[in-house]
Amino acid sequence: MSATPVRTPVGIVGAGPAGLFLAHLLHRQGIESVVLETRSREEVEGTIRAGVLEQWTVDLMQDLGLGDRMRREGHFHRGITLRFNGESWHLDFEDLTGGKRVTVYPQHEVLRDLIAARLANGGEIRFGVQDVQLHGLTTDRPRITYRNGDGEPEELHCDFIAGCDGSQGTSRQHVEGRTEYQHLYPFGWLGILVEAPPSHHELIYARHGRGFALLSTRSPDIQRMYLQCGPTDNAADFPDDLIWSELHRRLETVDGWTLTEGRIFQKNVIGMRSFVCDRMQHGRLYIAGDAAHIVPPTGAKGLNLAVADAVYLARGLEDFYGRGRRDRLEQYTATCLRRIWKAERFSWYMTTMLHTNPAEDPFEQRIHLADLDYVVHSRAAATALAENYVGLPLD
Ligand code: FAD
Ligand code: DHB
Repeated sequence: MSATPVRTPVGIVGAGPAGLFLAHLLHRQGIESVVLETRSREEVEGTIRAGVLEQWTVDLMQDLGLGDRMRREGHFHRGITLRFNGESWHLDFEDLTGGKRVTVYPQHEVLRDLIAARLANGGEIRFGVQDVQLHGLTTDRPRITYRNGDGEPEELHCDFIAGCDGSQGTSRQHVEGRTEYQHLYPFGWLGILVEAPPSHHELIYARHGRGFALLSTRSPDIQRMYLQCGPTDNAADFPDDLIWSELHRRLETVDGWTLTEGRIFQKNVIGMRSFVCDRMQHGRLYIAGDAAHIVPPTGAKGLNLAVADAVYLARGLEDFYGRGRRDRLEQYTATCLRRIWKAERFSWYMTTMLHTNPAEDPFEQRIHLADLDYVVHSRAAATALAENYVGLPLD
């Protein structure tokens, strides 16, 4: 027997960026919610992922009163470096976009701030739940059943359910009539975490005949670097000296810059795919974030896109509760997809331009070099890249 059902206006499945931003945005409008999360708080806060935040994501965190630690501890980059044919080219986003920057503040730090603030303002996040099942989605009283952290059955009665359960979640399966688009890439990334000071004050994206390389950062003492590898390669098969020799070769440049080595304390391989679920709602269920779309990591759009969905969904729910209007909710899929497809395009463009694809012929490889040459020599082309990287404005 379930305990007495709990009522909440919005049941949110998943405490990632989509679910937690949604909970905060709704709370600001006086709409309460309960977040259900299968992992423990420690696991959620301990999963280390990048955090290249678009300007409007940073502004939103400030608006929500969540920006203090980010302002103190984040790194603000005014651009990136593109490296190819052994030469480096700086793209100055601040100059190209009228003052917008990128903020590097790791995703787990964003989540720590969101969780702490949500619990402090009286919000409910139930960690460690299991067997989450959605019911009655086409009625106006949808329900979520699950087992709490002690294994006991519980039930949440809602007006709406937000499926923010990431790429491995199941909420997407409930969206009837959806069309799924997928594109696979014949490579992956070997990512390493290194104990070392930064080798450069901004990110470096390098195209090289031996494959892509990316120099990024986590903190003044910890650096993140990536090497293009095979899609099914095993991180354990890459000894440290091989990784360093590949990084030195792929990042080599004629201007005398050098890469600082350090102790590698983590290695992992990341797959690459593009995925879009064309239809993000069914009855009273709305899906958001990685539950509905995946981008390859080049260009760092995933987290930002998840937050944009949360903003659009919150706006729809505000209109419903505040004005009794449903049109924004009805338009939710269409509104989200306009932004999603542009982010998909940008991530695909950055990925194909910067990687060496073994399936491409020499003609196509030269086209990518021409594209890079165009970007670094044309202010118009550089501006197009810059405005996508710092984040297109929200509709
Ligand atoms: P998630 O973060 O996946 O959150 C979903 C949550 O739902 C999880 O906590 C999961 O445990 C929970 N869950 C799953 N199933 C259930 C269930 N049945 N019931 C309850 N809870 C459930 N994006 C960027 O913008 N910038 C970057 O620099 C960047 N770097 C990345 C680096 C790596 C290595 C990876 C893997 C991703 C990166 N991304 C980046 C992408 C970004 O991390 C994701 O796009 C983002 O986390 C999506 O947020 P989400 O809330 O939709 O999903
Ligand atoms: C990181 C990841 C990315 O995909 C990217 O484009 C930039 C930085 C990172 O892990 O730091």
